[in-house]
Amino acid sequence: MTEHPTFLVTTPLPEPGMQMLRGAGTVDVPDATLDRDGLAHACASGRYDVVVSQLRDRFDADLLAHARIRGVANYAVGYDNIDVDAATAHAIMVGNTPGVLTDATADVAMLLILATARRAVEADAYVRAGRFDGWKPELLLGQDVSGRVLGLAGFGRIARATARRALGFGMTVLFAPRPPADRPVTDAELGEFAGRVEHVQWDELVRRSDFLSLHIPLTDDTHHLVDAGTFRAMQPTSILINTARGPIVDETALVTALADGEIAGAGLDVYEDEPALAPGLAERPNAVLLPHVGSATVRVRSEMARLCAANAIEMAAGRRPPHPVNPDAWQ
Ligand code: GLV
Ligand code: GLV
Repeated sequence: MTEHPTFLVTTPLPEPGMQMLRGAGTVDVPDATLDRDGLAHACASGRYDVVVSQLRDRFDADLLAHARIRGVANYAVGYDNIDVDAATAHAIMVGNTPGVLTDATADVAMLLILATARRAVEADAYVRAGRFDGWKPELLLGQDVSGRVLGLAGFGRIARATARRALGFGMTVLFAPRPPADRPVTDAELGEFAGRVEHVQWDELVRRSDFLSLHIPLTDDTHHLVDAGTFRAMQPTSILINTARGPIVDETALVTALADGEIAGAGLDVYEDEPALAPGLAERPNAVLLPHVGSATVRVRSEMARLCAANAIEMAAGRRPPHPVNPDAWQ
């Protein structure tokens, strides 16, 4: 237990989180972004009790083996930037920020469904370019959303919040809970969705979805889950939505599928090699591209900052954080 802990905050959090950290200990923010070696050096220095990290900070097994820290408080719900097994092996607790960003991220999934279906970005560019010269029967025709099939890869919090929205729009909702494999889903887990959504296998989801939306973590099993074969199996009118993690999709294959008309469109908030885009993606008019803003509302980012700071403060004190990813790390 450290009486006056020191926190390494790799990138300042919104103020509510910074205030909590400053109230609990010393806060160190590096002058420039730490690269992998800079982060490894800081973690090994013994100066810090807890690192408050971002998705771009990578904690690999080697870094964690040499780290002299109690915990990593990641400012995100996802934690694929951290080798959690290695953290657990070295008694380093990892915390994340689930729950508070669920609705905001589901809103962005719905936004991408609507924007791709109704060509909102193309239409906006058309107006701004001064090309709008009056109502026309066949101007910028898009696709219906109501009455169409939304396929959810995953059935966690964000997938369910997206299902709720889609049902409100009159969509038919299918889900594959843990693609590419399957897992049982009990009536209790289905809850409010019993009888309103259909549990299917991944290959059926791919085939039947008008909109295929990804809500799964990035793992070895889900890396390139959506690849050239998936696009061939989708309908030519189908649209891919990704608010989860870029590397779940083979982005080069996606550009080809969009260019060749294998699928009709894509709405993306995340990229395989973020912040870089696969060559040709930015030129596709049938792609709507957002800069990883799923949780980006003023309120949500403040809530995430509070949760992240609470995780960091509890870990620094040797107490179990409110949202541990690997609660067994200290056993
Ligand atoms: C953002 O991508 C997050 O995991 O919170
Ligand atoms: C992420 O928080 C999820 O469970 O979908």
